[in-house]
Amino acid sequence: MFLDKFSVQKDKILIIDFGSQVTKLIARRIRELSVYCEVITLKELTNIKKFEKIKGIIFSGGPSSVTDKSYPKISSEIFKKNIPILGICYGLQLIAKMYGGKIKKQNIKREFGKVTIFSKTKSILTKGFFKRNESNVWMSHQDAVVKLPKHFINISYSVNSKFTAIQHKTKNIYGIQFHPEVTHTERGSKLIKNFVINICKIKKNWFVGLEKKRIIKNLKNSIGKEKVICALSGGVDSSVVAMLINKAIKKNLICIMVDTGLLRKNEFKDTFKMFKKKYKLNVKLINSKKIFYNRLNNIIDPEKKRKIIGNLFIKIFEKEALKIKNVKFLAQGTLYPDIIESRSSTGSKTSKIKSHHNVGGLPKKMKFKLIEPLKEFFKDEVRNLGKSLGLSNIIIKKHPFPGPGLAIRILGKVTEEKIKILQEADDIFIQSLIENKLYDKIWQAYAALLPIKTVGVMGDSRTFEYTCLLRAVTSEDGMTAAKYNFSNDFLTYISNKIINRVSGINRVVYDITSKPPSTIELE
Ligand code: XMP
Repeated sequence: MFLDKFSVQKDKILIIDFGSQVTKLIARRIRELSVYCEVITLKELTNIKKFEKIKGIIFSGGPSSVTDKSYPKISSEIFKKNIPILGICYGLQLIAKMYGGKIKKQNIKREFGKVTIFSKTKSILTKGFFKRNESNVWMSHQDAVVKLPKHFINISYSVNSKFTAIQHKTKNIYGIQFHPEVTHTERGSKLIKNFVINICKIKKNWFVGLEKKRIIKNLKNSIGKEKVICALSGGVDSSVVAMLINKAIKKNLICIMVDTGLLRKNEFKDTFKMFKKKYKLNVKLINSKKIFYNRLNNIIDPEKKRKIIGNLFIKIFEKEALKIKNVKFLAQGTLYPDIIESRSSTGSKTSKIKSHHNVGGLPKKMKFKLIEPLKEFFKDEVRNLGKSLGLSNIIIKKHPFPGPGLAIRILGKVTEEKIKILQEADDIFIQSLIENKLYDKIWQAYAALLPIKTVGVMGDSRTFEYTCLLRAVTSEDGMTAAKYNFSNDFLTYISNKIINRVSGINRVVYDITSKPPSTIELE
């Protein structure tokens, strides 16, 4: 049954996912209030038999239109349960339609991006949300409510939309056209808090430190005296998984570290030392550098690189895992966003931009039972878990790093020589960020090697060497990103430092594009 999907038996806010790109941000905002919530599909909703623990329901936005012949619908039974409901964007339009309002496709009055809305009627939902009766919000809609549904009142409007927030006269049913979950909406968190805490009246019940105890207890019970293996990369997720399971079953957890030769300078060695010596974990080290380098020889196509690395990794991991006798479980660092994204939500068709390689997911044919202790958590919650497990800040605060590693940051052919050059440049960049207290302000930073050599002059000699590209972005979840604004002085300093110290590079450029249109990685 759905409520048993996780072992969390708590009061909760349910978010029904109608396919918006930002649905998971609604869940994040609610978790930030220390309130437990889950994102489910319409189909999962129909399987729920008991509603006692559900204290509030949010209908997310989505790409569908209630003006079309066919669109995702919800049973009107949901309105009879006396549970507060908030509809966002498509969610608002669905509620309005079901209550007899009129929704129309707008060709000229569409609203995308920042829009100012104005307060019309005081509401518990928007208490403290408006400043001088105005608020700047983030909108993304073509359909709009043009006639208020029966029994509803209008809370706010914009220049182009008559109804940007509405509420039922007597029931706790609300709808908003804008997205309060997106940071571009001013005081959006305040509105979500009003709904969750003041309208749904749910008690704070989600504290990662306490959840840690529950997870460790569950792990102990479900693993017993059996052996577990996990792939340890030194990234936050796999590190927290290893620490949690180690707390539960000690030496019966065997961590396998595969050295692909594609990590940052010293990263593999340092991670191995840390987990083996400092945290006393049972770590098995596999040196596979040469195999990876051989297989990548002459490969230029980014997708090919990704596939080769992903498949090879799994093969090596599988082979090593099978050498260890009597292993029953395989642990993976699957996170809650992975669970949300892997389900088919109504009508959301996101196109594949890059094939992501993660340790997770692939070794299904291995005859192990899966353990996914992080599957209820968001990344920031995993970091907090790591902190409460005593994990070093080096790991907790580490910027994200792609599974295929430096191979996708060396454009074109990957060679051992280029890896060494890039490792040096990247290390200088990252260490300088740390020294200048910039590292924690940036979501992700790295150096890449471009496949172009240019002419330079060093001393009195002509040089003909590689170009190093630096990228540093701010982001919330990697879905969108903006360049970090370094001072000119810092950029000059870092460029000089790299060129002076790394032989093989004679030009440094800084990537100023945002995502979209660019992606964070180059390949
Ligand atoms: P893009 O380049 O798609 O990256 O804007 C978004 C985030 O995902 C990371 N990334 C990966 N992470 N395996 C991973 O675990 C991968 O194959 C992979 N490719 C990209 C990227 O570093 C950024 O944080």
